[in-house]
Amino acid sequence: MSLFWRIFALNAVVLGTATALLLWAPVTVSVPVLLTEAVILVGGLAVMLIANAALLRIGLAPLGRLTRLMTTVDLLRPGQRLPERGRGETAELISGFNAMLERLEHERAASSARALLAQEDERRRIAQELHDEVGQSMTAILLVLKRAADEAEEPLRAELQQAQEITRESLDEVRRLVRRLRPGVLEDLGLVSALTSLTTEFATHTGLRVIRRFDSDLPALDPETELVLYRVAQEALTNAARHAEAGKVEMSLRHTGDTVVLSVTDDGRGTGVAREGAGIRGMRERALLVGAVLDITSEPRAGTQVRLAVPVPSDPGKQS
Ligand SMILES: Nc1ncnc2c1ncn2[C@@H]1O[C@H](COP(=O)(O)OP(=O)(O)O)[C@@H](O)[C@H]1O
Ligand SMILES: [Mg+2]
Repeated sequence: MSLFWRIFALNAVVLGTATALLLWAPVTVSVPVLLTEAVILVGGLAVMLIANAALLRIGLAPLGRLTRLMTTVDLLRPGQRLPERGRGETAELISGFNAMLERLEHERAASSARALLAQEDERRRIAQELHDEVGQSMTAILLVLKRAADEAEEPLRAELQQAQEITRESLDEVRRLVRRLRPGVLEDLGLVSALTSLTTEFATHTGLRVIRRFDSDLPALDPETELVLYRVAQEALTNAARHAEAGKVEMSLRHTGDTVVLSVTDDGRGTGVAREGAGIRGMRERALLVGAVLDITSEPRAGTQVRLAVPVPSDPGKQS
C-alpha cells in the first residue's frame, strides 16, 4: 500500500471508531458537560492520539532508517544497505537509495583508484629524479670535498671534513626519502623483504621495539596488492610512532584460507575519539582498490590494531 493510503487508512480507522462509539455506544455529552463525560471524552481522545502515533511511527519507521543512513553513510566503508521489504513508494525509495549507493561506491572506488595510481606515478618520478639528479650531484660533491680535504692543511682540513660529514648525512637522508617514496625493495625482493627493511629502519629511527611475524607460506601477490599492503603498513607504523606513545609495535602477515591479513598492533594509548585524518582515509581508499577490508580497533590505553584483510585467489594446489 502506498504511504498516502496507509496514513489515510490509519486516520480513517481511528476517526471511524470514535464516530461509531458516539453513534451507537451509550455515550452522551450534556451541555454543560458533566465531569464523568469530560473524563470519558478526554480518555477517548488520549487513546485515539496514542493509537495514531503508534501506527504512524510503525508506518514511517523505514523513512527514519533511510534518513539516518543518508546522514551517516561513508563510501569508504562500502556495503551499508537498508533491507528492502514490502511494496509501495517507501520500498521503492529504499531500493532506489540502495542502487544509488551501489553506483556511488563504484564511482568512488574508481576515482580513488585513479588518484592513487597518479600519486604513485608521481612519487616514482620524484624518487627517480632525486636519485638521479640530487643523489648524483651530492656524490660528486662528496668526492670533491674528500680530495680537497686530503690536500688541505689544518684548520681548513677539519672544516672540509665537517662539510663532508654533513654532505654524507644529507645523502643518507635523500636515499631514505627515495626509499620512502618508491619502495624499490618491493619491486626487487618482494613484500616480506620490503616490510622487513621498513620495520628495521622504523625501529632504528624511532627507538620502538618492533616484533615481526611473517608466515612462510605466503602466496604470490600481484604488484598492486603488494603496494597496498606496503603503504598501509607504512602509514600504520607512522601513526604508531606519531600518535600512540607506544613501547612496542607488532607487525604480522598471515595467510589463512583465501585471505592474507596484515596486522599492525601497538601498545599505546589508543585512538580514542580522534577523527580519521588523511592517513586513515588513505588506508581505506587503498583497501578499496584491491577489494580488501580495513579494520581499526582500539582500546583506551591498551593500544590500536590496524588490520587489513586482502582476498587472494585460493591456492590452486589445494583445489580438487
Ligand atoms: N596508533 C595510533 N594510536 C593512537 N592514536 C592514533 C593512532 N593512529 C591514529 N591515531 C589517531 O587518529 C588520528 C587520525 O590519524 P590519521 O588519519 O593517520 O591522520 P594524521 O596521522 O595525519 O593525524 C590521529 O590524529 C590520531 O589522533
Ligand atoms: Mg597518519
